[in-house]
Amino acid sequence: MITYSLQGQNALVTGADSGIGKGVALELAKAGARVLINHVDAQEIAQLTVDEIAAAGGEAFEFHADVSNEAEVQAMYAEMFKRWGTIDILVNNAGLQRDSRLVDMTLEQWQTVININLTGQFLCAREAAREFIRRGVVEKRSKAAGKIICMSSVHEVIPWGGHVNYATSKGGVMMMMKSMAQELAPHKIRVVSIGPGAIQTPINHGAWGTPESLNKLLTLIPYNRIGQPEDIGRLAAWLASDEADYITGTTIFMDGGMTLYPGFADNG
Ligand code: BGC
Repeated sequence: MITYSLQGQNALVTGADSGIGKGVALELAKAGARVLINHVDAQEIAQLTVDEIAAAGGEAFEFHADVSNEAEVQAMYAEMFKRWGTIDILVNNAGLQRDSRLVDMTLEQWQTVININLTGQFLCAREAAREFIRRGVVEKRSKAAGKIICMSSVHEVIPWGGHVNYATSKGGVMMMMKSMAQELAPHKIRVVSIGPGAIQTPINHGAWGTPESLNKLLTLIPYNRIGQPEDIGRLAAWLASDEADYITGTTIFMDGGMTLYPGFADNG
């Protein structure tokens, strides 16, 4: 039984049409939050998540915005405030990979990943922080004036050859999250990251799509299973709740032990 509630709180989840974002949106809704399902050009599948939330008695709507586009982000917040008045929870989730060996990586591959994964989180966090500071704490909803949850990765600490753009973006998310947390704590705003390991979603289909690839992946996961979007969703909902009221400025890894250097389980 869930002992906390996000009832009466408004959440924005970026990239919520699929993968981890969808799992997070569903769990926030289950905990009682209203959820804005952000997507970029995936209106039909985003609507399926909206429908699923509505069928379970929750409230949601979908909105297109490229998180790396300032005007689109501001338009999304304007629509959210028009419908629901304010925001309580931002889950900065939208992210992508454009994998390439360094020597072959194009500037476009580099910039696309930095723009979405890092600049996108900055733009969405800035708008949320402005509103949290303007509004302050509303005690009947939460002890905090607002919560920002950044979707990072084990690759904020595990270097990743062939994915230099992605690992760099997540290392950046870590320092952005910590700096924002330090700056915003006096305003009673909490900022935290989740560092997922391998979660079974479209972004890493290549890593689990065949029995061979899954077996190879499992050698990197001491707990010996791939994660599911609802694992991350439950953590995000809890982190957004007052049960986690004293947590700010840190990354919670949820990775089945991927960050434990599994290669050193014996003699190395
Ligand atoms: C990446 C996945 C990868 C996982 C573990 C995630 O951040 O997006 O592709 O499977 O890290 O390496």
